[in-house]
This record gives sequence, structure tokens and C-alpha cells, in this order.
Amino acid sequence: MDTLKVALLGCGSVGSQVARILRDDTDALTDRVGARLELAGIAVRNLDADREVELDKSLFTTDAESLVQDADIVIELMGGIEPARTLMLSAIGHGASVVTGNKALLAEDGPTLYEKADAAGVQLSFEAAVAGAIPILRPIRDSLAGDKITRVLGIVNGTTNYILDQMDTTGAQFDDALADAKALGYAEADPTADIEGHDAAAKGAILASLAFHTRFPRSEVHCEGITSVTADDIAAAKDAGYVIKLLAICELQDDGGSGVSVRVHPTLLPREHPLAAVHGAFNAVFVEAESAGELMFYGQGAGGTPTASAVLGDVVSAARRIVLGGPGRTESAAARLPSRGIGTVETSYYIGLDVADESGVLAKIAQVFADHGVSIETMRQSMHPHTSGVAAASADPEAKPTAELRIVTHRGRDAALSRTVEAVKQLEPVNAVTSVLRVEGV
Ligand code: HSE
Repeated sequence: MDTLKVALLGCGSVGSQVARILRDDTDALTDRVGARLELAGIAVRNLDADREVELDKSLFTTDAESLVQDADIVIELMGGIEPARTLMLSAIGHGASVVTGNKALLAEDGPTLYEKADAAGVQLSFEAAVAGAIPILRPIRDSLAGDKITRVLGIVNGTTNYILDQMDTTGAQFDDALADAKALGYAEADPTADIEGHDAAAKGAILASLAFHTRFPRSEVHCEGITSVTADDIAAAKDAGYVIKLLAICELQDDGGSGVSVRVHPTLLPREHPLAAVHGAFNAVFVEAESAGELMFYGQGAGGTPTASAVLGDVVSAARRIVLGGPGRTESAAARLPSRGIGTVETSYYIGLDVADESGVLAKIAQVFADHGVSIETMRQSMHPHTSGVAAASADPEAKPTAELRIVTHRGRDAALSRTVEAVKQLEPVNAVTSVLRVEGV
């Protein structure tokens, strides 16, 4: 086994860097593996497309299936569900190990691929699918395999972290921060998958499956994006000592771990939390484990060369396993914990209210919280400037005084917290519920 044939499917920004590193670092990789990694070919849709890296033209083919049949290791970087799934299954069927960054496919149909890979005794690895360059899946799957992970909090989408960070640091509105993210190439022309939280939700499903040894499909992930976060929300959070981040939160139920919940939503974090210091388009994953305690993994979550690092790590690992022998093992799903819906999650809420400033209002609101068994941790009131003092007198003399209330609750069941918000909305002195955000990390 002097040489292992590597087939590359897809030659976009990550694929072209993978090809470059395989070409330029052949000797170093050979030393690490104990066999030479030969890039046997690169399957693409369009042979004439411009590439980011100058590569030997004779490597390119449109016949992905033939390339796969003759490979020891297949690197799938085409993205999408088909033909990626069929080609990966074909590779596994031919005894090849597979390395992929395809989070959408893994989140949708991972178990089929894991089962086939396990049955064939080949390795299926996907470090590049979550948080780009950050080594997070292998630490969760291997390094922490002897521990009990209780919670994973991830900033796993760089585009949304950039947008929220811009809003936080410059006071920008969402639309302006999104336009900046597009101009810098972080956000796609159609940014839906990022800003609606779908990209983070697919990554959350993968993180939860590995962390809790349980198959966790994307369809079970509660998902809210950042499109309704306003500059006012950010300013109010800042004023109260928080920062708003889009988090993928994977956690064991507080009752000793009888189930798992995974959710993606904008979240208030105390500004002193380590994740609050993750700026720009960077990613980070914060892991809480029974014995290890708190761990944080930080780095670039996207980009051709950083993501290629994760792909090459998987390729070297798969190649070593082939050289040394022994079956691959892709999945540890023996725990089979039930998935718990968002209503059962324990969290706390930040609630912004616009209310009439008159006697008895606070008492009425507090009573609704008490009726629902929800305990208030802090309540801050500030007058709306246009309805008080000199400003009010010079504006509309008829305007009734209103105040802004900002309430942070103690932790409680999400279902009780959201019922409380619905009941508060119905109170006559409440003009509007201006924001509802979950708080974590306190
Ligand atoms: N679009 C993703 C992000 C990168 O903004 O982080 C690919 O997963």
C-alpha cells in the first residue's frame, strides 16, 4: 500500500484549496500517513469554469461515478443532496472511505450513510461540516468520548455573527449590517439559510448527535433566525449588560438527562461570557461536560483554506486507518435519548414591554407572571422621553404617558414563559410586547 488514490468531487473555494494542499504538501502528508496520497482526479460539472487555484487540467473530469469507483478515499465537496448522496453511497459500496463537508446531507440523511459506512468497515468523516476550520467534531466524538457532555453552545454561523456584531458595535440596523455582510462576501446573494437559522440548525443537529450519542434529525431542531432582531433590541440588551448572539444550543434535560433538546435562536448572553467575545464572522463552540468542565473552541468557520484544513485532517485520519488496518467507526448512537421539544426547555426570558404609565400597572403585570408560576429576576422601567416632562409638553399634549419595561425572568419552562408573554399581551395597559429573547449563560 504505497499509494492511496484520492478522488475529489467538487472544486469550489474549499475543493480547490484541498487540491492545492494535496499537490504542494505531498511529502509531508506521505510522512504522516505512511503512504502517498495521489490525487487521482477532480469531478466537476463544468470543465471550463474558472478556478481559484491553477491546477493540472488533466485531473478534471465530469465522470464522477468512474472516479469514485477507483478511489481509496473520496472527498465530497459538491454540496447539496443529489448527486452527492448517490456518489457517497457508491464510494462506500466500493470500499472507499469518505470525507465530506456536506452538513445539509448529513442533517437530512446521515443515518443511512453512517450505517452503510459501518457495514462496509470504512470511515465516514465530516469535520468540515460544522464550524469550518475549528476541530470540534473529533474532540466531541473522540477526546470527550469518556466524559458526559451536558451542553453545547455554538456560534456556528459566521454571517449572522458578523451581522449581530456590527449591530452591537456600530448601532447599525439589521438591513444595513446584512448589506455589509454581502459586500464582504460573508452572506450569499440569497442569505436565507444563514439569517433564518437553517444553516446553524443543520450544524446543531450534527453537534447534538455526536455529543449525546443519539440520532438527532434536523427536523427536531427548533429554529428561529435573526431577521426580527432590531437595533433597539441590541441597544437595550447592551444597556442591561448582555450581547445578542445566534446560538445553536444542544442540551440534556435538567432532570438528569432523560432527553435532549436542540434549538437555534437569538440569545442574550452576559457580556462576560466567553462566547460574547466572539466578533465578526468568527465561530466558536462552548462545551460543558461533567468531568472536563467548560471548554471553548474558536476559529474561522468558513473560507476555502481554513475549511480545507479540516478536510485534510479527515483525509489523513482516513488514510492512516487504511494503512494501519481496522474497521472505520462512524457513529455512536447507542444512547437513543428522546428528543424534547422547545416547550420543555428550561431557559429564561428577556421581555420588553411598552406600557401605560399609570398606577397599578406593575402589579397587574407581576400578577400574570405569578399566575403562570414564572419568577421575575429583574424589572427595569424607563419613561418614554416623548411622553414625559418638557419633551411631552412640546409634543402632543394629549399623549398619555407611557413607559418601557424590561423584564428578565428566572429560569423556567419555555412553555410557561411563552404562555406568560401571551397573557401579558392581553392586559389593557400593555400597548405592545416589543421584544422577547431567551437569555443563556447566566
Ligand atoms: N454560511 C456559513 C456561515 C458558512 O456564514 O458561517 C458555511 O457553513
